[in-house]
Amino acid sequence: MRLISYRLAKNLEKMVDFYSQFNPSSLSIKQFIDFGLKANEQKSYQFLKKELPVRLANIMKEIHLLPDNLLKMPSVNLVNNWYTQSFNEMIEFEVDDGCTEQTLDKFCKILVKIRNRHSDVVQTMAQGVLELKDSHEIDLHTENSIQYFLDRFYMSRIGIRMLINQHTLLFGDHINSNNHHQHIGCIDPYCDVISVVKDAYENARFLCDQYYLTSPELEICKSIDADDEPIKIVYVPSHLYHILFELFKNSMRAIVEHHKTDILPPLQVTIVKGKEDVCVKVSDQGGGIPRSLSERMFHYMYSTAPQPSKSDAHTVPLAGNIQVFNAIVFTILGYGYGLPISRLYARYLHGDLVVLSCDGFGTEAIIYLKALSNEANELLPIYNKMSTRFYKTTDHTIDWRSTCNHTPISQQQFTQTQ
Ligand SMILES: Nc1ncnc2c1ncn2[C@@H]1O[C@H](COP(=O)(O)OP(=O)(O)OP(=O)(O)O)[C@@H](O)[C@H]1O
Ligand SMILES: [Mg+2]
Repeated sequence: MRLISYRLAKNLEKMVDFYSQFNPSSLSIKQFIDFGLKANEQKSYQFLKKELPVRLANIMKEIHLLPDNLLKMPSVNLVNNWYTQSFNEMIEFEVDDGCTEQTLDKFCKILVKIRNRHSDVVQTMAQGVLELKDSHEIDLHTENSIQYFLDRFYMSRIGIRMLINQHTLLFGDHINSNNHHQHIGCIDPYCDVISVVKDAYENARFLCDQYYLTSPELEICKSIDADDEPIKIVYVPSHLYHILFELFKNSMRAIVEHHKTDILPPLQVTIVKGKEDVCVKVSDQGGGIPRSLSERMFHYMYSTAPQPSKSDAHTVPLAGNIQVFNAIVFTILGYGYGLPISRLYARYLHGDLVVLSCDGFGTEAIIYLKALSNEANELLPIYNKMSTRFYKTTDHTIDWRSTCNHTPISQQQFTQTQ
């Protein structure tokens, strides 16, 4: 029995090695749309049965490069097993059986199963890092590796889910129950930015009111294009919603805690469309954060909110596990994941999220999105010698000098990313 499972594991290892040699194929949102309009299930199946194992294998190889003590944490082990299981299920489709209706149906069902299995990956991986922090001293190299890995790991997950969502929404059982008739899978070719802003604001406001018994108003400074039309963009509304919801929660918390009075300055939103970019700027007068901490805003686990316990899930509204919208997006519990994950969503289609803060006054966050759908390409991590080197290098020589305590950390990171 042991021999059989050893052989199976060895075989699996070989398959992961094999698929990890290929780079993921990055698609543009235009390609997703063009493909969706023709909606050929067999073609989608033929593409995904190779592409999904490639994407899974690329990131599985990186999981194995994590520091040993992190790999041993129960939650990380659990995540690792989910990936192994899903990879195994995918490569079952390697054998070409002529692409029958049965196979297509089975494939769709397996995709749904994989999506459900992986729905708690973000929280579970975050839990794994907490387990490590609770049981070990974490040195700078490990901290940097974790930050580097999580960015790539969560980005890979966004891409994998996008593929799965497109296929299951276009060809799955619930095709006809989709309320959004103009959507192509999870993409809205006419995504009305202002209505997503309002949705995200209302839901964040609901939480803010519940917890603080007050909330700032929303002031839309500009939201029309040069032709006086509301700004529309080809985009995945759930991704934009996720980013805005996180920004609004942060701003609301900052505004209410900074002012502590009945009169709160409004949250301001400006939406503009240029030739290349669509920008959504969220400004608050919530007191901002010191420049010395601004770099840490995008660090996983950096949070000035009290870290809630599981039982706090219903009482910590601006950092809570709330499925306000539909299940495609996720929010997690005050772990300081709001900004880093939001930035990944923006970067996934070659946009960005930039935050500028004026200490003592307030914060501005700008979401950059690509205005042209053929420029909105998936940004995906690839496993290769470069990425491997990052995990292995422990010699991070400082080539800047300062007497200030917090500076060396950022400067070491600066030198590593050059
Ligand atoms: N608009 C803002 N004004 C002031 N501080 C902010 C603002 N946005 C973020 N921050 C600071 O950055 C930290 C990190 O924000 P982030 O959204 O990543 O995590 P969080 O809000 O603490 O927790 P989570 O989003 O996971 O519920 C916050 O704890 C807060 O200290
Ligand atoms: Mg937050």
